[in-house]
Amino acid sequence: MENIFSQVERNIDRLVENDVNWSACATAEQLQRARNGQLEMTFGCGRAIPPEWFGDLHGKRALCLAGAGGLQAPLLACAGAKVTVLDLSERMLDKDRAIAARENLDMDIQHGNMCDLSRFADETFDLVLNPPSLFYVPDVMPVFREVHRVLKKGGSFIMCSSNPIAYVCDYDADLGCYKAVNFMPYCSLDHDDQGDWVEYGHTMESYIGGQIAAGFVISGYLEQQAEDITELYFITKGDKR
Ligand SMILES: C[S@@+](CC[C@H](N)C(=O)[O-])C[C@H]1O[C@@H](n2cnc3c(N)ncnc32)[C@H](O)[C@@H]1O
Repeated sequence: MENIFSQVERNIDRLVENDVNWSACATAEQLQRARNGQLEMTFGCGRAIPPEWFGDLHGKRALCLAGAGGLQAPLLACAGAKVTVLDLSERMLDKDRAIAARENLDMDIQHGNMCDLSRFADETFDLVLNPPSLFYVPDVMPVFREVHRVLKKGGSFIMCSSNPIAYVCDYDADLGCYKAVNFMPYCSLDHDDQGDWVEYGHTMESYIGGQIAAGFVISGYLEQQAEDITELYFITKGDKR
């Protein structure tokens, strides 16, 4: 495969063109409530993030990392933050452009790869919000190190991703249930039946140990199980002290 990130971009664009559920934008009502001080922040997995994880966002600089789609970035902007959204998919970014134009929101919308944040100076942001997306990068450490670098001291990194159980288990149609069949870490490219889909199952050691190794202090942890029972998401809040 020539470049995994070009392939991920094509895969995401194709899903967005087919209206995948996690590309649904914030509603006008949600945006209005955020303007009125009621921020209801969810990721694609549906779990709401406690408002106290954000605090008062007025005047704060927030980076929505791999966070396009017209959901999180416009909500943060309506809550008073100065928002930058960076994403690999132009189709996802188009949704933020459309909402920014319709709602008259001043958002900085950038096409880019979360593994390379060299365009941002050290200690630029108060908050980095990262919706489920780290399973599209082969190694989470460059992302964690870069996020730690671009955060101000006292800033927070809120991320969501998939628990390894989603990759360890496959549905066995003959047995009529899930079966643990894969060792971790997982890579879709090692499986012929996955076609051109690129996805990585990282260990919890990579996610939690990786953030700690990058310098974060983990101060919050949440989980959300989807209807498909092995789709178990977790959310962490990591602080730069
Ligand atoms: C599942 S969507 C998450 C966004 C959605 N707003 C949500 O609430 O779940 C994953 C996003 O990650 C982006 N993405 C994947 N790999 C990326 C990379 N290496 N750099 C930047 N964005 C990436 C995709 O383009 C997509 O917009």
